[in-house]
Formats: sequence, C-alpha cells, structure tokens
Amino acid sequence: DGWRLVALESVGSTNDEAARLADDGATEGTVVWAREQTGGRGRRGRRWASPVGNLYTSTILRPDCPAARAAELGFVSALAVADIVPAGRTVRVKWPNDVLVDGGKVAGILLESAIAQTGVVQHVIAGIGINVGFAPELPEMRYPGAALGGSVETTLEKFTAALAARLAEWRRDGFAAVRAHWLAKAGPLGAEVDVKLGEELVRGRFGGVDHEGALLLETASGPRRIVSGELLGRAA
Ligand code: BTN
Repeated sequence: DGWRLVALESVGSTNDEAARLADDGATEGTVVWAREQTGGRGRRGRRWASPVGNLYTSTILRPDCPAARAAELGFVSALAVADIVPAGRTVRVKWPNDVLVDGGKVAGILLESAIAQTGVVQHVIAGIGINVGFAPELPEMRYPGAALGGSVETTLEKFTAALAARLAEWRRDGFAAVRAHWLAKAGPLGAEVDVKLGEELVRGRFGGVDHEGALLLETASGPRRIVSGELLGRAA
C-alpha cells in the first residue's frame, strides 16, 4: 500500500527527521519510528519525555488540501489511536488531539505542516507519541497519564494500519464523517470545562466542534469559537 518504515534506534525528534525526508521528496506513508528520542517535542513548546519503552513515530502525509484544512488530520490521527485501544477499556478523545484511556492521557499528537506559497499543503508530519510501557507524568494537565500495555512493535503496526484506514475514510467521506466519529468519542456535550488560551483561562459548556474543527464553547458571556488552545478538562 506504499507505506514505508524508517526505523531508528535513537533520534532527536522523529518529526524533524520526517520533515527532512519530506523535503527530500519522500512520499506519503513514509513512517519514521525511533526507539527513543533525545529531543522529543510536545505541543506549545513543551518537551515530550521519550525514553525507550513507548512509541514515537512520525508519518509523512501529503493531503493536497488548503492549509486551513490541515488541522483535520489531527482528528484523523486521534481516531486512529482510539481505534487501537484494547476492548474493555474506556476511550475518550479530548479537543484538540488528546486521547484518554480510563481517564488518563495515553497519546500526544504533534502536527507540523509545510505550506506552499499558493496556500496548498506541501506535507503534514503527523507526530504521535503513544504510551505503551509506562505513563510519564503530565504536571500541567488535570488528568494523569495512562499506558496501553503490549509491545511497541505491535502498537506501531496496529497504529499505522489504523491511520491508513482513517486517512482513506477522510479522503472518501470528508471531515464531516471524521467529525461525527470523533464527537461520538468526545466528552459529553454540555459538560463544564476549562480551556487555556495563551495565558487566559476560559470556562464554558462543551458544545462540540464545528465543521472546521474549532471548539465550540458556551460561556457566561455568550458562545465562543476557539481555533487554537487547550482543553484542560472538567472545570474545577
Ligand atoms: C503533545 O504535546 O501532546 C504532543 C506530543 C507529541 C509527541 C510525538 S512523539 C513522536 C513525534 N516526535 C516528536 O518530537 N513529537 C511527536
């Protein structure tokens, strides 16, 4: 199916390695995997602790869509992680890209795009860290970490297959289908949540996501549409 694995013992960040390969013309479905990262990166400039034992992988995607739609691939990736959670465990997705298993964060997703001058996406690097063997601490979150268990190799295989399937679904049925599946796994509509916007903390009722993936929040001062931020979890 054209997917190709680049397996490394150790690398700074698989996202940087994948971006380098993409700039050199590597095709969609090139998967960079490292047993450990010495400079793993998270969202919002955070570090992603990456010792041997968990899964660190970055996939080159060439979605051929306008830049504004690239964020849709974060929802696609989160669903692919949710797909490989063993039966019997409770899986929830949390805006924008988190996956919680039995209430703990099990994966982190870092999407990085290269945009051509025409506004079309050249490539998207879908960087995914999945806790397999252990759950690092997440001091800034209101929920703990969680781990999937099993082996890193099997998790990589399952995740790659799930990502290919979810990507095909996105291409075939569009974001509307992805959004519907994502919403079915999201926290309850109407639950009171806190969202961090830079330094600002906004409280409101969770109203789902719109057709562009923006978070909808019903606040005391009216409805808000949030494009970029971080849902911290239930209001304290
Ligand atoms: C988050 O902050 O939740 C996102 C974490 C993303 C971590 C993954 S691990 C593989 C890829 N390489 C990186 O440097 N980061 C991503």
